Amino acid sequence: MVQIFLDTANIDEIREAASWGVLDGVTTNPTLVAKTGRKWADVVQDILALVDGPISLEVTSTQADEMIKEGRKLAKLHKNVVVKIQMTTEGLKAIKVLSKEGIRVNTTLVFSANQAILAAKAGAKYVSPFIGRLDDQGQEGMQVIREIVTIFGNYDWDCEVLVASVRHPLHVIEAAKLGADIVTVPFDVLKKMAGHTLTDVGLKRFLDDWQKVPK
Ligand code: G3P
Repeated sequence: MVQIFLDTANIDEIREAASWGVLDGVTTNPTLVAKTGRKWADVVQDILALVDGPISLEVTSTQADEMIKEGRKLAKLHKNVVVKIQMTTEGLKAIKVLSKEGIRVNTTLVFSANQAILAAKAGAKYVSPFIGRLDDQGQEGMQVIREIVTIFGNYDWDCEVLVASVRHPLHVIEAAKLGADIVTVPFDVLKKMAGHTLTDVGLKRFLDDWQKVPK
């Protein structure tokens, strides 16, 4: 079954989604944490307390040695932490070392199947292709998902495809049809997935008709 992660650092959104019983994990990045206006450590503590599933926390160093040190520190915070490493050659060096130590790595800022192949070979547990940003520049993001899912499937690689930069519910449906392991969605996309105007109309009719039933 496709796993659903929430792509946010907003605790109210995470609490609400978790209460629906559909949340498998959370992904964060510096941009999402900055949006909250809260201290990083407070945000992370709250997320770890709320969700018992993979929580991606991103390193902010760019040199492999520093990424490795930062990654080790993040991984020590909690068993659910997944260290998010940028898809660069320095990132690949860090992925290799951290994954050998048993630390799960999510490779972020993946925009091509070639990058996904290298990240998986280096030992990443997850690759995160950013499909919305590809769509934004006129390239079909979902085509990259199609390629990565096929390639990983060909070799039975133990690296999960985590579809990121998801902008609308159709992205989720397409990703799931292709067999992607995970989609990480903003809360507004999750809400759109749950709703349908015909559900609202149907519910209103049921409730109106219930008023007509003699009691
Ligand atoms: O998961 C990555 C995501 O946060 C990036 O999304 O909408 O900024 O491209 P976006």
